[in-house]
Amino acid sequence: MNSTTLPAPMLSDKRNAHRSSLLIAFSAYLRYNTVMTQRTFKSILITGASSGIGHAVALEFAKQDVHLTITGRHTDRLHALEAQLVAKGASVTAQILDVVDRSAMTEMARDAEANNPFDLVIANAGIASSPNDDTPAEELICDIFSINLAGVLNTVLPAATLMRARGAGHIAIVSSIAGLRGLPTAPAYSASKVAVKAWGEAMRPQLAADGVGMTIIIPGFVESRITDANTFPMPFIMPAEKAAKIIVSGLQRRKRTIAFPWQMVWLMRCLTSLPGPIFDAVLSRGPKKA
Ligand SMILES: NC(=O)c1ccc[n+]([C@@H]2O[C@H](COP(=O)([O-])OP(=O)(O)OC[C@H]3O[C@@H](n4cnc5c(N)ncnc54)[C@H](OP(=O)(O)O)[C@@H]3O)[C@@H](O)[C@H]2O)c1
Repeated sequence: MNSTTLPAPMLSDKRNAHRSSLLIAFSAYLRYNTVMTQRTFKSILITGASSGIGHAVALEFAKQDVHLTITGRHTDRLHALEAQLVAKGASVTAQILDVVDRSAMTEMARDAEANNPFDLVIANAGIASSPNDDTPAEELICDIFSINLAGVLNTVLPAATLMRARGAGHIAIVSSIAGLRGLPTAPAYSASKVAVKAWGEAMRPQLAADGVGMTIIIPGFVESRITDANTFPMPFIMPAEKAAKIIVSGLQRRKRTIAFPWQMVWLMRCLTSLPGPIFDAVLSRGPKKA
């Protein structure tokens, strides 16, 4: 029997049932959102916190009852940040660690599990070449992949194993607008960022099945040591503090993707929809990086 032939009372019963299931779904959604936004992170690992985006995100998260584990390679900058975080009331573990050192990264995650199990891990450490970089190209290309790709795996894999075992936790990977497509202006850098973005997205359902969330962070130009070295115009560049506010707010809402500023996201989406030869011709005009 189709709806046009239903007697009036049956039809309204069906509509009411439909309405109440919509209401139940909507209130479940509201409850879920409220619980997720109220559940703040208590133990956070940020790699590459000694400058730029990682540094600003650490400061944005710092308050009482939050434990921050910050890593980087530069001792003075990392310990200066440690003092700032402690002054804001956070407890801090500062560790000089190279993300390329897989066993040291695994050991750090296991140590934390015993004391302050991470509920958020931000794989942020990364490098980019600058047009005036004097390191030999092949060496630079290998370094970019080691740090930006293997370094992310070394950060995420041990933490994800521990989080999955306890059925809770959240992981964030810092990709880039340059990671929306391979770019002729920065082949190695853009490819490393494409790879971590794709890997994080592909891992999301498996992690979710074990209670672990995944956010991909896709910044445009942000003031940092990376962009300080650039000599070309950087549209819509923003201070690291502003980027950190966007990132922390997105993480607190457990967003799947945090891409900003919208103007750069939009610009890159337009460019990537161009036919390949036109895209290559337009983008190849920029300064060349590794
Ligand atoms: N700034 C932008 O416009 C922009 C845009 C999109 C994406 N990103 C990404 O954002 C992330 C942060 O970069 P940033 O812009 O804030 O640059 P940054 O100021 O140069 O910061 C990079 C951080 O990564 C750390 N790092 C580099 N190599 C490392 C290694 N092998 N082991 C451990 N730590 C290492 C650095 O620590 P040390 O100096 O102590 O070694 C530093 O703390 C990177 O993944 C970058 O690709 C940046």
